[in-house]
Amino acid sequence: MRLIRTKDYKEMSRKAANIVAAQVIQKEDSVLGLATGSTMIGLYEELVSRYRQGDLDFSKVRTFNLDEYLGLHPDNPYSYHYYMKTNLFDHVNIAPENTHIPNGMTDHPDEECRNYDLQIESLGGIDLQLLGLGLDGHIGFNEPDDVFRKESHCVRLDESTIQANSRFFDHENDVPRHALTMGMGAIMKAKTILFCVNGKAKTSILKQVLYGPITPRVPGSILQLHPNLIVVADEEALSEI
Ligand code: GLP
Repeated sequence: MRLIRTKDYKEMSRKAANIVAAQVIQKEDSVLGLATGSTMIGLYEELVSRYRQGDLDFSKVRTFNLDEYLGLHPDNPYSYHYYMKTNLFDHVNIAPENTHIPNGMTDHPDEECRNYDLQIESLGGIDLQLLGLGLDGHIGFNEPDDVFRKESHCVRLDESTIQANSRFFDHENDVPRHALTMGMGAIMKAKTILFCVNGKAKTSILKQVLYGPITPRVPGSILQLHPNLIVVADEEALSEI
């Protein structure tokens, strides 16, 4: 594990963007695994600004997002489709057909998840996977469980996740109770994982994830087993490490 300590969110976003930029410059048809949430907004802003300066070209990049809420249409402002369009895709030269996000409107979640894994495999797996951290230790929407789920799957969100993510919605009742998420298999097979964590609220869970027992009760703890994990985190999140 390589640990990059930054003074604040802005520096975390810049340093993480440097790593994504290096990946795309070195391999123009990189397969990127993308994440959502407030953690990633600064990183995407940095990528957009480098694209505008002419330093980055996304024309051959392929992407797979980690997750999507079940039942939300791509045009719904709370959907991760919408998040990705407004924070990144609409502002860079990525081809829409090269971007992949689980279809939250599917009537067949299991089939959707199977196909998602097959698509990832057909492009040779993920080169660089971005990850944020949920307050309960989830990565993507892999919630605490009895086992690590290898395949992409449909998940019932934990109450704590629903509550944490309700800040993005008008009412807590609007937060979907289910989501589709990439499983641990595709995440752990990524050649490099870029794990970004910031803020005081994540201090204790980050310590458990990086140094506690490896257990599906703390899903992110599986990252300790990844051979090429880069953690970029700010002082607040690292204050116990
Ligand atoms: C969400 C997403 C995760 C994200 C996490 C942290 O539930 N499904 O992919 O990493 O929660 O979110 P935030 O960055 O807003 O703290």
